[in-house]
Amino acid sequence: MDLSSKYMGLNLKNPIVVSSCPLSESLDGIKTLEDSGASAVVMYSLFEEQIRRENEAFDSLMESASGHFSESSDFFPQMDELEDKGPEQYLNLLQKAVAATDIPIIGSLNGVTNEGWIDYAKQIQQAGASALELNIYYIPTDINKTGIEVEQRYFDILQAVKSSVSIPVAIKLSPFFSATANFAKRLDDAGADGLVLFNRFFQPDFNLDTLQIDPRAHTGSAEEIRVPLLWIAVLHDQIKASLAASRGVQTSTEVIKYLLAGANVVMVASALMKHGPQYIQVLLDELEQWLEARDYASVSEIRGKMSHKNVVNPDEFERVNYIKALGRAGRGKRN
Ligand SMILES: Cc1cc2nc3c(=O)[nH]c(=O)nc-3n(C[C@H](O)[C@H](O)[C@H](O)COP(=O)(O)O)c2cc1C
Repeated sequence: MDLSSKYMGLNLKNPIVVSSCPLSESLDGIKTLEDSGASAVVMYSLFEEQIRRENEAFDSLMESASGHFSESSDFFPQMDELEDKGPEQYLNLLQKAVAATDIPIIGSLNGVTNEGWIDYAKQIQQAGASALELNIYYIPTDINKTGIEVEQRYFDILQAVKSSVSIPVAIKLSPFFSATANFAKRLDDAGADGLVLFNRFFQPDFNLDTLQIDPRAHTGSAEEIRVPLLWIAVLHDQIKASLAASRGVQTSTEVIKYLLAGANVVMVASALMKHGPQYIQVLLDELEQWLEARDYASVSEIRGKMSHKNVVNPDEFERVNYIKALGRAGRGKRN
């Protein structure tokens, strides 16, 4: 069975990529991911906060943006934890991982200032990363900030990074843009080599006993694939940038659905943290069995088979299905 897949020009042995998460925090961890069958590993994110606390520009930005950035989510490291894992440690680990494995290692960067994005993007490239993922984790809670300004921030970061490195650059997006397809197209036009759809967003809950905000991250469920599935299906074959599906993979069913929608690769984090890296092989075996049972010889044969362009009735992705989902289809007809 030919599972080979292409992501941002990288030739991968299969479509399962380990998403940015703590499983890549050690060399042994990364080697285990490779041994378990991962075709590439996106390293945990290097946060600009790890380096720049003393920098004035950074401090003032953080002050004005307090609450908007990723440290508010508990699946991102806390400040004191970040200080233990400085950029040198990150870059050293990246360098060692590149030397010790045969799969592409993708760096992940979460910057705040433009300067930060550029400096660390360059250093990640120098350390040998095959590509770079920009984890632009930004919650626009500022009531005066317009959608156009929010989108512009993404373009500014992309342009700054693209003009300073030559490795492929992916952007990990939030699902909350008013015109997701158009925004993706404009990022593609601006040179994004890949789009990761989507990051899991910080969605706080309230604790009714303590009346405090409960910042725990979602544990994840297969239902979460629905939003990325829709947008991957819509974007497949419409933009040059590669598409990485991220969110909600619990079993091979979600992997297969994402491939049918048109994902170049499928990223997995929570399920591997829950079941261990060896679970990658289970996902791959089940994918292979599913393909074999239907006489497919390669994963490319199913990629995009159920994309917006390829389904018999693309309207099914849109309003018609909404009406059906509400159980209204057929109702109201008079005999
Ligand atoms: C414990 C944990 C840590 C994570 N750390 C990062 C990170 O450093 N950078 C990043 O871009 N995403 C991070 N993520 C998000 C994952 O890469 C992924 O996009 C998200 O968990 C959805 O995929 P999943 O449903 O397979 O978990 C983290 C997720 C988890 C569960």
